[in-house]
Amino acid sequence: MATQDRLLVIDEGTTSTRAIVFDRGFAQVALAQQDLTLAYPEDGWVQQDGEEIWERTLAVCREAIEVAGGVSQIAGIGITNQRETTLVWDRTTGKPIAPAIVWQDRRTARVCEALKAEGHEAAVQAETGLLLDPYFSATKIGWILDSVDGARARAEAGELAFGTVESFLIWKLTGGQVHASDVTNASRTLLYRLGLGEEGGWSEAMAALFKVPMGMLPEVKPNAADFGMSDESLFGAALPILSAAGDQQSALVGQGCLAPGMAKITYGTGAFLVANTGAERPDSQNRLLGTVGYELPGGGAMALEGSIFNAGTVVKWLRDDLGLIDSAEETESVAAGLKGNGGVFIVPAFTGLGAPHWNADARGTISGLTRATTAAHLVRAGLESAAYQTLDLLEAFEADGAGIRELRVDGGMVANDWLMQFLADICNRPVLRPDYREMTALGAAALAAMQLGWLAPKEWQDRPVQGIRFEPKMADAERKGLIKGWNDAMRRTLA
Ligand code: G3P
Repeated sequence: MATQDRLLVIDEGTTSTRAIVFDRGFAQVALAQQDLTLAYPEDGWVQQDGEEIWERTLAVCREAIEVAGGVSQIAGIGITNQRETTLVWDRTTGKPIAPAIVWQDRRTARVCEALKAEGHEAAVQAETGLLLDPYFSATKIGWILDSVDGARARAEAGELAFGTVESFLIWKLTGGQVHASDVTNASRTLLYRLGLGEEGGWSEAMAALFKVPMGMLPEVKPNAADFGMSDESLFGAALPILSAAGDQQSALVGQGCLAPGMAKITYGTGAFLVANTGAERPDSQNRLLGTVGYELPGGGAMALEGSIFNAGTVVKWLRDDLGLIDSAEETESVAAGLKGNGGVFIVPAFTGLGAPHWNADARGTISGLTRATTAAHLVRAGLESAAYQTLDLLEAFEADGAGIRELRVDGGMVANDWLMQFLADICNRPVLRPDYREMTALGAAALAAMQLGWLAPKEWQDRPVQGIRFEPKMADAERKGLIKGWNDAMRRTLA
């Protein structure tokens, strides 16, 4: 019999779903990936098909297991996922009753505004650490229950289940045997009382405010826990599900940020700066989010987060919608080929703005166009926007007394050397890029290994990470000039 010394990680992101097999030393053995379809049926709406998410996730898992040499070597499964995206499904059939409403979706902006106008935001922030924004799950659940015929009555009768993507995948993987979530995903719903261990839990007050029947909610577990066994028919053997974590918190673990003060930023579809605040519950005065960093059987950490809604989407838009580039890789030479940005700024508020502005109605702007503006300037402005948005977050962290001295980065966009140098220059801080970039998946693997007893948290934190350090080198006057240009562009966007 083969030794079970490999871990299968499902990394279900917004635009693609992937399966990665790691060996016991955390080296990648296999990777399979499929894109996911995003639909934009109305301005500000972003939705996906839950069944497609499941079918493609299952397909990539099977492919990765095969490439890695078969199921007999797999010790178990770790899951990490796009957070907040909301699914409601029928407990009998396991089928979603509506499209999954993606985290970027703004259709519930008016509901949030009305709750704000009624003065609920302070209480919501005190209970959940979050703000009243359509980003989070609660108002999305309400929208599904109120727009699908009979859904509210069925939910109240216990016939429907709610879950974010990890919860839906756990349900599917276990053949409907387990309805569970983890603390990091739960803490993004607006329905969870923010806290570690016994202090955290579903909030009756929030469920009442957002009119979500408590019976729809999954059981919440720590990030390394027993999430049930996968159905034997799926992979030819039943595998234990050992970990689940939201992708940003998983990347925090992947980057080894297990001590207070450590922080990372992941540039995926959006970009998310997350700082470990230790046992202390963060209380932001600057429109950042308090969230659970991670929870392990022996303890956990809270975190402060700044969320940028559009980062990688800008490159995708330049490529797929504007046709200005053929590949994401090309952006590096295009940007480097220009002497400057020509005064052009793109504020990519495609789906409103996240932290620290929280403006659901803002839409993107391009400013500074002249007759000398070329396609290359637009490409460069698109890349630059990721750096300026990061600086806006860093300033909010600083104002909250959680200053970040160096940036640990990961995610697809960080392959771009030009952008990494520009990021270091604009943020005026060193940028640390690990050689292995799949920090989100690595975090879920580390959590699964902790659940198996293969790894202690301290060992993971002390593990040396190979990578490159980009030091800031831009002259102060140039940096200040660019930041002023961005701030002017942002003012115009918000006007
Ligand atoms: O909060 C949304 C986030 O979890 C999505 O992550 O990697 O798809 O940008 P990503």
